[in-house]
Formats: sequence, structure tokens, C-alpha cells
Amino acid sequence: MGRDHVKVCVRTRPTSTFAQDAIVIDKEAQTITVNHGTLEQEAEIAATGMHDNRQNSFRFQFHHVLHNAGQDTIYDGLARDVVQGAVDGISGCIMTYGQTGSGKTFTMSGDSGNYQHRGISPRALTHVFQEVNARIETAFSVNITYMEIYNEKIFDLLVDPAVNATKGDYTIAEDRAGRGVFVRGLTEVEVKSEQEALNLLYGGELMRTTAQHNLNKKSNRSHSIFTVYVTQRAKSGVSEKVVSSKLNLVDLAGSERLKKALDQERLEGRTVSDETIKKESMYINQSLSYLEQCVVALSRRNAGHVPYRQSKLTNVLKDSLGGNCNTLLLACIWGEAQHLEETMSTLRLASRMMRVQNETHALEVLDPMQTLKKQERTIRDLKQELLMHDALADRSRVVYDPYTPEQQQGIRRQLEKFVAAQGPEEEEASFPPLESVRQMREICRVFKTLILEVQGDARSALLNSAGGMGEGGLATPEDGDTREGVEGGNPNKMQGTADTLVGSMEPDNGFGLGRAPDHARPVTVDSTRDRPLSRQQQGGRGGASSAFMAGAPPAGQSEPKDGLLSPVLSASEVGDDGPSATKRHFGRSRVGGGAGGGVQAPASGTTFNDRSLLAGGAGGGPSGGRWGGGGGVVGEAKSAMYEAFKQGVGRQLNGELLATKALAKAQKEGVREQAARVNALKKQIDQLQATVRDKRLKRPSLPDVKGTADDVMDEDEFKLVTQERETKRNYKEAFEVLAKAKAKMEASAQQEEELRKDLIQSFDGYLEEKAEGGFEEDGLDIDSRAPLSPGGGIRWDEGGFEDTGSLEQAALTRVADKDQNSLAFFQAQKTRIATRNQNTLALKQAHRSKRNR
Ligand SMILES: Nc1ncnc2c1ncn2[C@@H]1O[C@H](COP(=O)(O)OP(=O)(O)O)[C@@H](O)[C@H]1O
Ligand SMILES: [Mg+2]
Repeated sequence: MGRDHVKVCVRTRPTSTFAQDAIVIDKEAQTITVNHGTLEQEAEIAATGMHDNRQNSFRFQFHHVLHNAGQDTIYDGLARDVVQGAVDGISGCIMTYGQTGSGKTFTMSGDSGNYQHRGISPRALTHVFQEVNARIETAFSVNITYMEIYNEKIFDLLVDPAVNATKGDYTIAEDRAGRGVFVRGLTEVEVKSEQEALNLLYGGELMRTTAQHNLNKKSNRSHSIFTVYVTQRAKSGVSEKVVSSKLNLVDLAGSERLKKALDQERLEGRTVSDETIKKESMYINQSLSYLEQCVVALSRRNAGHVPYRQSKLTNVLKDSLGGNCNTLLLACIWGEAQHLEETMSTLRLASRMMRVQNETHALEVLDPMQTLKKQERTIRDLKQELLMHDALADRSRVVYDPYTPEQQQGIRRQLEKFVAAQGPEEEEASFPPLESVRQMREICRVFKTLILEVQGDARSALLNSAGGMGEGGLATPEDGDTREGVEGGNPNKMQGTADTLVGSMEPDNGFGLGRAPDHARPVTVDSTRDRPLSRQQQGGRGGASSAFMAGAPPAGQSEPKDGLLSPVLSASEVGDDGPSATKRHFGRSRVGGGAGGGVQAPASGTTFNDRSLLAGGAGGGPSGGRWGGGGGVVGEAKSAMYEAFKQGVGRQLNGELLATKALAKAQKEGVREQAARVNALKKQIDQLQATVRDKRLKRPSLPDVKGTADDVMDEDEFKLVTQERETKRNYKEAFEVLAKAKAKMEASAQQEEELRKDLIQSFDGYLEEKAEGGFEEDGLDIDSRAPLSPGGGIRWDEGGFEDTGSLEQAALTRVADKDQNSLAFFQAQKTRIATRNQNTLALKQAHRSKRNR
């Protein structure tokens, strides 16, 4: 970026009658001194022969004063740098200013029939394309526009004059990011060669002169602006920068005043009325006057207001006068005595231009695609570099892609092992090998999830153990008799925890439904060994001795020696408040044991209870961290919101949940009845066995016949034994029915739980949406957002959470009353949330039906 004055140079038109007395050029000092007096003064001088130059001698300093200079000198000495700048990305503007006949067009365009005398424009095009062709590493695009401003109207010199006539006036616009000021609608032609560009230049000039004949407007009465737009970017694609610049080549209208114009036009015999000439002069003078005013304003230290918009010319040249541009003003003077007035006026403006400073820097715009590509490349390179580092550091397993759910599950399993580990050695062995910071972070994340789950479960369990222990009753410690039988079947099941017990009929306290199927456990770690005894295990009030205890009889399992398969039902697992077949063994017991002591979560407790989740405070559940803590009012409000949610957005899901719940309940009832049947049969068998045993003991022994005691039985005993066998068969059948019923019930319970989870998740999502749509930062007051944002305080007194209907309408109306502009926003938010909720539900639906298949 540089800060340059506008370069101002004076060129004299060669003439044999150069007023060398009046105009003194000092080529060394680059000055022009004009000795100029009024006509009266000149008459006086002529009369008295005395010169008084003190008042009428004006000395002007310029960057260059070129007297009798050739076209090549002008181009190479002055214009070349500006054109070069444009190719390098800095816009340029070259203007020729001066009275008609002073050589503006000659300087700018030159003599189109004479190569030596070609002007700045054709030379500039040659120059541009020389650079474009030389810089093979850069992709250039060159576009051209050519216009004329005549009587404050823009004419497109690249289209047929007839088109210009039909077109309305063109508007001048500004593209701040790229090309700066431009004329909207003007024909812009991309040119691939100097030839094409020159064709346009000359075609436009032809158009200008044709129009001159047709419309009887003279080219010297209009400003012409030939613009070359240059856009460039590196061909290698390494740089994402796009550099735009333009070169304005401006041939201004003759700056002479009206009187001179009239004289000249008359002299040249132009057949237009004085009115036309006056009108032209007025526009020209106006625009040049604004050009001067702009220049003057810009030459002040604090430019203040610059009247660019006052004329088309200054508006179009806005960024060429005081903007990011190299500007070269070529003031053309016709150094004859008769043109001294005009020369003075030209030099005055030119000297003002000397003081204008332009700030120049290349306009760079970032190409988003290139930026993206560059960043992708950088990421790829960095990954490669990291892999190399890893390889060197012998850490070849490190990956840099996000963890997949499977990987996360793997970490989770390992962490669970770690948690279950006994002693430092086991811990050491079970801890996942550390590979990277990224992996460490993921481990921490999974750990966090586990802890949150545990916390949530503990809260639920606490709540349940406080309020819901009754109905289901407590677990029953097994008696020695049945234990023996079971241990023969599956000793692992007999470690003494409630959840490993299956089927214990309790006359007073109901019965349990056994352990959850393994697939129903989200996390499975055998934590039974060191788990503190739960209430059930400590032997609560339900310590009936009559229950059968055994592992669920696996298909084809050989009968225990007493010939019985023992359904084992643990009491607490069927309790209405503790029905979950799905149990998170991991964690809950530990946390419960540590924090809750005696009220440690029962292994069979409800794992996912919507009531406990929503109770706020202690019962916050998984979402407690976000919503809990407050308990009391917050909890109540949230419960109310949840109830409303179940009637509204979550209606369908809730309906499913209720249906499944009802089904599970009916099935549970069936299982309960069947278990009673099974247990009754078992009791019957016990009794029969006892009677038979009794009978045998009482039977008179026949010591001389070995083994007859077993072989010989009376009719009663035979009946009893037959009955026992029959009962055993019935028992087996009943047990199978029970097992099937249990499996169905467990499936329903699991589905119920999943539905409940879905419902709560959906509710959480709903709350989040509402909270997101709570517009915390939108400047609206609490009142206005309340109706649409339960997170921000919903008005329950107005009927809760109906998503449709008059309440919603009333809420929107209130919003609209506050701020009309926000209405559309709120409406859009509502639509967005509704759509998202619908999508979430549909997804879950699809997921569920897939699962059930
Ligand atoms: N530096 C110069 N060298 C030779 N001829 C010139 C020069 N400047 C102007 N002329 C001639 O003077 C005449 C008027 O010049 P022109 O460029 O049309 O003036 P303007 O555009 O300012 O009205 C033309 O015939 C042109 O060839
Ligand atoms: Mg001209």
C-alpha cells in the first residue's frame, strides 16, 4: 500500500505560434509560468509599454511538463507505470483534461491511422497483454467496457447506438469487495487477446464518431471512459487470492467555457442551435466543476464531503480520484496566445490535482473454494505429518478420525472392566492402553457418561426405595434345601444377589420375575462379588422359606437330583414400582453402596423411571444435571410440562408407551398367576414326596430280602408315587408356560422402558428446542418470550403446552404486539421446532419398528 499524490503532468500541443512570452516552461524545475493579464491590462501594457508581472504572473509546479514530447515519451515516461500497476493489481486512471483542440484525444487514443502516433489506450492494451502472456503462472481475465457521458447521460460505446436509445439510463453501482465502482448494465466484453481489445477500442471510437454524425453531438462535447478490468489468480491453485483491478482511460470533454465553445462551434460550422451548445456546455462545465470540487475537497487535509455523486463523471471516477488508485492527470494545453485563458484554467485545475493523495493497495478477495481446498490440503498435510511423528514415536495406532460408536462402546467396556477390577494389578491390566491425548479425551468423555448415568440411576433408586418398596415386597433369601438343588443346576446363579435369583414364590410378599436377559443390560459388569448386600439380601420381612430357588432352567438341562426344575422368582422384581427387567448392574450398586448405605439402589429397582427423572432435585435422573437441583417449584413445573408434553407433541409416543405398559402389566399378571400355579405344584410335589418318604419309613422292613424296601409298595404308596410323577410332569409343563410368559413379559417391559426413554429423550429435546427458541439474547423481555419458551418461563395458568389452538395464537399476537418485526422470526422458529420434532418422532418410530422386527 502506498500513499501517492495524483500524478499531474502537462503536455503542450505543438504549435508554430507558441506564446513563448506568456508561457514559460522550465523543463528542469517542471514548472510553467504564465504571464497573463486581463484584456484591459494588456491594452494598458500595449499603450504604456510597461509590463507589470507581479500581479499577473502565475507559476505552476507539476510532476512533469512535457513540451513537444512524442507519444512514446508520454507512454513510457508517464502512463506505463499506471498500466503496470493495473496488471499488478492496483487500479489506475489516466485522464486527459484541457480545452478542445489541446490534444486530449490525440494523447489518449492517438492517431488511429498512424502506429507511431497511437495513443495511451492502444499502447496500454499492448502492454497489458504482453504482461498477461508473459506471466504464465497467473490466470488473468481481461474485460472491457467503453462508455461515453454526454449531457449527463451514459452511452454504451460497445453496442449499437440504437440500443443505447432504447435503454434507459445506466446506474452507477459500487462493488466494495471487488471491482469498485462500475456501471450496471454496461456491455462488458471479456477479451483474450490484444487484438480483441483493440477491436473494441476502435469499434467504440467509431461508434462515438458515428453517433457524432447521427446525433449531431460532437465527441469533444462528451467524456469517454474506456475501462480495462483485470482479474488474476495464481494458476497453481496454491493461493486462494483473487486480485481485481481496473484501468480507466478517460478522455474528458473540452473544458473551454461557453463563449469559447460557441465561437469554436460557429467557426467549425456545426449545425446545431446555440441552445444545444449551451446545454452541452452547461453539462460539461457542471461535471468538470464537480470534478474540480472533488479534487479540491480531496486536496484538503480532512477531505470531508466530496461531491462525487453530483455528476455521472465524478461518480464513475469516484475510486479513481481519491480512492485506491494510481491516477495520472494529463493536462493538455494549447500554447497559443488566444487560448491563454483556457490554459490558465487548465493549469489551475491541474495544480489543484497535485495535492490530492490517493491510497493504493491491491484489492484482494478470497475465493472460498480455493480457501477450502487450501485448508483441506493443510489438514491432509498435517495428518500425514502426525502419522510420521506417530510412526517415529512408535504410536502407529493413533488415528485422527472421530471415534465411531463401536469404538466408544469398546472404550466403555474396557472402563467397566477397570471399574470392576480388584486391586491395583487388576486395575492395571484392565485399563485401556494409552495412545494419544485424543484417546485420553475420549476415555474421559465415556467416563463422564458413565458417571452421569450412575448418578441418574442412584437418584431414581433413592426415590424409589423411599416411596415404592411396598408392593413388590422384599427379596427372599433362599433356604438351604432349594439352594442345594439350584447349585447343582447353575452354581453361578447362586451368589446371593437378588438379581440372580429366579422365581421365589412368597405367600405374603408376592414374587420376583428373575434376572434380566443379558441383552437387556446396557452395561454388564459382574459386580456381585463386592457389592454390599441390599435390603433384600440382608433378609427383609419376606424371608419365606417355601420358595423355590434356581436358575431359570435352561432348555435341555438335566433335572436336578430331586427331579425338579425350580423357577426362581425374586420378590422385588415384580413390584409395581420396581418392574424393570433391564438393570444396570454396573455402577448403581457401587454408587448406592457408597453414598446411600442402607438405601442403596436395589438391583431390581426401576432403572429408568420417568417420574423420578422429572421429579427435579434429587430425582433429576439423567437430565437432572440440566434441570434438576431446584426441586420444588422447578420440579413441579417440569412435571407439569412433561404431563402437557405427553398430551401434546409426545402424544403418539405416550400412547404407545401406555399401550405397552398395559400389555406388560397384563402379562405380568399372567406370569404372577402362572408362577402361583407352578409354586402350588411344587408344594404339592413336596408334600407327595414327604408322604411317600413317611410311608416308606413306616413300612415294615423285610431284612432278608435285599432291596425290597424300594421295590415293594402298597397300593396307596403306588398311587402317591404315580401322583407325584403326574404332578412333576404338570409342574414341568407349567414351568415351561411360565418361562415363555416371562420371556414375553420381559420383552414388553424392555420395550416399555425403551419407549419411556424415548419419551423422556423426546421431552428433553423438546425442552431444549424450546429453550433454544427462548431467545435469551434477542432483546425481548421475559414476558414476550414466555409463551413460546417454557425454558424461559411458561405460563401454566394459561393451559400449559398445547401446541396448537388459541393459546398459541394468543401468544403470537402478544409477540407481535411487542415487536412486529419479530413475528416472522417467531413463526419460523415454531415451524422449525415442529418440523424437527416430527422428524425426531418419525425416526424413533422407524427405529422401533426395525427393532421389533
Ligand atoms: N502532441 C501532438 N502532436 C501532434 N499532433 C497533435 C498533438 N496534440 C494534438 N494534435 C493534433 O491536434 C488536433 C486536435 O487534437 P485533439 O486530440 O483532437 O484535441 P482534443 O481531443 O483535446 O479536442 C488533432 O488534429 C491532433 O492530431
Ligand atoms: Mg478530443
